Amino acid sequence: MNTKLVLSKPAELETECLAVVVLDHSESKSQNNGAPEKPAPKIASPDPAIISAAAELIASGEVTGKSLEIVLLHSPRGLKAKRLLLVGGGKAKDLSAYQLRKLAGAAVRFLKPRSLRNLAFFAPSGLEPAESVKAVVEGAFVGDFDPDTYRSDRKDQRLNELTVVAAATSDQKNLQRSVDEARTLGESQNFTRELVNEPGNHMTPTELANRARQMTEELKSPALKCEILDADAITKLKMGAFMSVAQGSEEPPALIVLRYEPEGAPSKPVIGLVGKGITFDSGGISIKPSDGMEKMKYDMAGGAAMLGAMRAIALLKPKVKVIALVCASENMPSGKAQKPGDVQIAMSGKSIEIINTDAEGRLVLADGLYYARQLGCTHLIDAATLTGACVVALGMINAGVFANNDEIYQRFEKALERAGEKMWRLPLDEEYREIIRSGIADIVNSGGRWGGAVTAAMFLKEFVEDTPWIHLDIAGVAWMEENKPWIAKGPSGVAVRSLVEFVKGFES
Ligand code: BES
Ligand code: MN
Ligand code: ZN
Repeated sequence: MNTKLVLSKPAELETECLAVVVLDHSESKSQNNGAPEKPAPKIASPDPAIISAAAELIASGEVTGKSLEIVLLHSPRGLKAKRLLLVGGGKAKDLSAYQLRKLAGAAVRFLKPRSLRNLAFFAPSGLEPAESVKAVVEGAFVGDFDPDTYRSDRKDQRLNELTVVAAATSDQKNLQRSVDEARTLGESQNFTRELVNEPGNHMTPTELANRARQMTEELKSPALKCEILDADAITKLKMGAFMSVAQGSEEPPALIVLRYEPEGAPSKPVIGLVGKGITFDSGGISIKPSDGMEKMKYDMAGGAAMLGAMRAIALLKPKVKVIALVCASENMPSGKAQKPGDVQIAMSGKSIEIINTDAEGRLVLADGLYYARQLGCTHLIDAATLTGACVVALGMINAGVFANNDEIYQRFEKALERAGEKMWRLPLDEEYREIIRSGIADIVNSGGRWGGAVTAAMFLKEFVEDTPWIHLDIAGVAWMEENKPWIAKGPSGVAVRSLVEFVKGFES
């Protein structure tokens, strides 16, 4: 999808479809004080030609401005656009970048099945202009993705071009920068979604490593380097926790290392991005029930998010050093697989009693996080589809966030706000530590049912020690269970935008 920014008169714009947001300006009932009539919804654009083209439709009462309501008008009078798409934005006072992303995504997803390939979207004036255009572009890219890659009758319904229309008074250079940045973020998020969408027979650890290498080569950035460590190298590093997961599979594991070292970046900080890259999680000997097991191809979503984030970082060029590590492996049962009761020695030297072979994510991350520190990372962030317990706690709306340090958490909170992603902090009190005590080793890999998301995070904490660290449990939000007006069912690409904003926050 090409992106264009236009500041000229929207009425003069020749396009298949011009979309504008319609906002509901009525107060809530209690504040209405018995006012006789509800005010009419309003177009979120000061342009008189658009307002007059939509006037009749709005006067008819067919358009309410209700969130995600979509009304299409053909041959709008006074506009060069062939169609005018009115996108309901909900209550005017609640309009936010978060909501606007959804509206842009919904407009794109409305056009796709109708074989319309070009969209112009008027960035609503209610928000700061740079924020408004950025949200439109990001949301449009999210809406543009569909997961039906392997359908024989797949029609390529992606949009050819998105034109963002902004009020003529705005600072063009600044807005163009926002459009370009949003496009990089959107494309990188979709790159992640493509990786996560691939079935386990295609997306093996080796293939994930190939994709990382290919992405690095395509970017041709002198600041980005890709290195793949194979099973021998991983074994030589004494990553006993990582290898214990990989040993049951016929597919060899891979440790993907991406280094971003831009010229002129200070030697510190070095941000470490560590991703869980389980390309299929059967549970191993503690095998999962077959119902829903097919979904466990998305157990590499955390790792894929790191690759998408590194792609965006290499293109946006912040002056901060970043190292990404993706621990890629299958988790399979076999005669060679590890067994409950086995004891493994992690790279850090800590001994781990395996209670449940299905708690494999924390094993690969334990070595990934420790290695990141050895490579000189001063700050760590990991993302993983780590626990079903996190889904029980937060459902499919918020990801879980854990932090061993309040300052790094506050940094991350700002990144979340800029990225428009929802995550909720969960605790890491010392009292949880005793739940993962082992009688035979230093630590067990499963604390059982209660507080499962927290005990998993406590396990990881053993390997990051005092390095400032954020852990994201994205099990509930990395896969959309159903189609939404603004996003397709399937991989969401969650965390990519927040990770990039987080890294950018370390600049200067
Ligand atoms: N990949 C799963 C977590 C998961 C569950 C992700 C559901 C998405 C949806 C992880 O490896 C796992 O199996 N965790 C176990 C841990 C338990 C054995 C301590 C879980 O959550 O049940
Ligand atoms: Mn598992
Ligand atoms: Zn898993």
